[in-house]
Amino acid sequence: SEIINAAGKQKVADQIAAKVKDGDVLGVGSGSTVYMALLAIAERIRNEKLKVLAIPTSLEISMFCSKLGIPLTTLFENKPDWLFDGADEVDPDNSLIKGRGGAMFKEKLLISSSAVNYIIVDDSKVVKKLGTNFPVPIEVFPQALLHVEAELKKLGANSIVLRPAKGKDGPIITENNNLIFDCYFNEIGKSMEQDIKSITGVIESGLFIGYNLEILVASND
Ligand code: A5P
Repeated sequence: SEIINAAGKQKVADQIAAKVKDGDVLGVGSGSTVYMALLAIAERIRNEKLKVLAIPTSLEISMFCSKLGIPLTTLFENKPDWLFDGADEVDPDNSLIKGRGGAMFKEKLLISSSAVNYIIVDDSKVVKKLGTNFPVPIEVFPQALLHVEAELKKLGANSIVLRPAKGKDGPIITENNNLIFDCYFNEIGKSMEQDIKSITGVIESGLFIGYNLEILVASND
């Protein structure tokens, strides 16, 4: 199924690359589908000598843009004309869970800064209810860990796991020097994003409820 998914992701990646115009400032999300879109965009930049700037959402994507020769800019100088990003789950209301890669704070900041947002997914990401296959990631200021954990339980969290690091002992540390809880809830209602955000010590969550998004879903038929 990895191979089938790769074909689907390639289709939406190519759709994104086709939208790029000379002079665009692009918000660039994270994940493998975004990677594929960047490869296709880099090819258009080379072939058509387009001038494009990218505002990245993660160190990983910054490095990849640089490798591809796509110049970077920041939110200090520019706003994205439009943005593309992946997602881990999409529900029938176009609400999302993001943050498998741990970059949801910057991803949400960029989506909030951009008027036009394309979310590119293959059909394995489409769910009836958020929380089906992925937990909600929550970035937490380290000293607030115990407080946030107690408050999340009050919101109906039935599983709260401190995300472990790979290749190092202990928890993962985000690009903002915080920690991540991966959380499953009994029920994710319309107010859950705001309820989580209002806990002191929560930097941001990977819930995106009611945003202005255009979802491009690739299937293989
Ligand atoms: C990153 O934090 C996530 O929100 C990604 O957008 C998500 O994991 C998509 O990844 P793939 O495109 O690799 O499925």
